[in-house]
Order: sequence, then structure tokens, then C-alpha cells
Amino acid sequence: MIDTHSHLFDEEFDLDRDLCIKRAIEANVKKIILVGFSKETNLKAQELAKKYNIFFPTAGLHPSEANSNYLEEFEEFKRFAKENKIYAVGECGLDYHWDITYKEEQKKLFRLQCEYAIENDLPIIVHSRDAQQDTFDIIKSYNGKLKGVMHCYSGSKELAKEYVKLGFYISLGGPLTFKNAKEPKEVCINTPLDRLLIETDCPYLAPTPFRGKRNESAYVKYVLEEMAKLKGIPISIVEDETESNAERLFKI
Ligand code: NI
Repeated sequence: MIDTHSHLFDEEFDLDRDLCIKRAIEANVKKIILVGFSKETNLKAQELAKKYNIFFPTAGLHPSEANSNYLEEFEEFKRFAKENKIYAVGECGLDYHWDITYKEEQKKLFRLQCEYAIENDLPIIVHSRDAQQDTFDIIKSYNGKLKGVMHCYSGSKELAKEYVKLGFYISLGGPLTFKNAKEPKEVCINTPLDRLLIETDCPYLAPTPFRGKRNESAYVKYVLEEMAKLKGIPISIVEDETESNAERLFKI
């Protein structure tokens, strides 16, 4: 398995990070995409990735980092991304859930990162919350030149189909295992297997039976199992396919 979205550098793991990595390896997790989302976490992802070769670090600026200083922040991001090996740009995107003070800045910051990804032939990891239409419009405006993944996708199956047409992958996480998660289950059933990825987004969004607790990369197996069940395909096949999808997208 490949956990395509993990924040194992988070302080939630400061006391038992080595054990979490050990449990992930024991659960047959082979690679982990370590996702940065701010100046501080981009650096943490690099540092942790130097210690264990299971990790592949990314760097990005989350929409909650957007403010009136966004141009300066982006310049700094660019310097960082040039100096360090990164496997994707992100997570980045739009989030209108908590605060829309900097809605325009969010859009501009997202576009800058999309353009950086295209110029540097990197995939993008997209976070989108309560901003489905704007996110899609921006991605679509690059006419298929932009490649990437919709992380912890929470939109409709119809929109997922549009993303697939644009060359995007759909990543599903813990919410897929929730009993009442009708939409992610429909997305899983209707999206072709060669476009699906699995992730944890740990320490957040733990799958059943750990819902509400701290999540960790080993738990990506519950997402895999649910995906196989919903698709009616043996676990080993879904495991192989989602692994090759991640390897293809991130060139790992
Ligand atoms: Ni995340």
C-alpha cells in the first residue's frame, strides 16, 4: 500500500513516531507521501524524509495560509521548492469553510501553485472544502496541462468524472469507511480503479473502527479494504492498482 497523504511530522506523533512508522511497515505500507502545507511543515516534511526512506516529501501552501502577504509567501515557497527535492506541489487549494476573508487571495495563491506545478512538471495535491465549483473552474482552466490528485475527495461522482477526464486522480481516505458516507462510497464505485488512490490524512480523519481517534499511516489498510469491498474486487488487486497509480502520479 501507499499512503498518499500523511502528516506524520505532526506533533501528535512526537512521542511515538518511530512506532507509527514501524506499524505502517508491518501493515505493508511501502511508501508514504509526506504532505507539507505551510512554511513550517514543508521544512518538517523534508527533515523527516531524510531519516526514513519510506517517505516522499511535498511542499505547498494551504488556503488557510493565504493572506495579504500571499505574494511574498509564494516567493519564499518557490525558493524552498527549488532548493529541496519535492514530489508534488501541495497541499494547496481552496477552503471556504471557516473563513472567506481572503477568498481572492486563496484563488490567486492556488493559481500560482498550479502554474509552478506545470512549469516544473510536478503533480499537485488539491485540498477543496466548500469550494467545489471554484476549485474545478481553476483546474479546468489549465486545459489538462495540470496533473494531480483531489485529496480526501468529498464531491459528487459526477464531478469526480470531470476530474478524471482532466487527467486527475481521486484519493479517498477515512470517511470512505463511515457508515453514512453515501457520497464517497458512490465515488469509489463509479471511478475507474486506475484513477483511485488511498490515503489517511493522518493525524486527522481516522477510519472506522478508529473514528474520532488519532489516525496513522497503518490505518490506510481500512480504506483499502473498504474500497475492495465496494468495488467487489479482491483486496490484492486493488492494492496493486492503487500502488501503481501513486507511483505513476508521483514518479516514485
Ligand atoms: Ni492534509
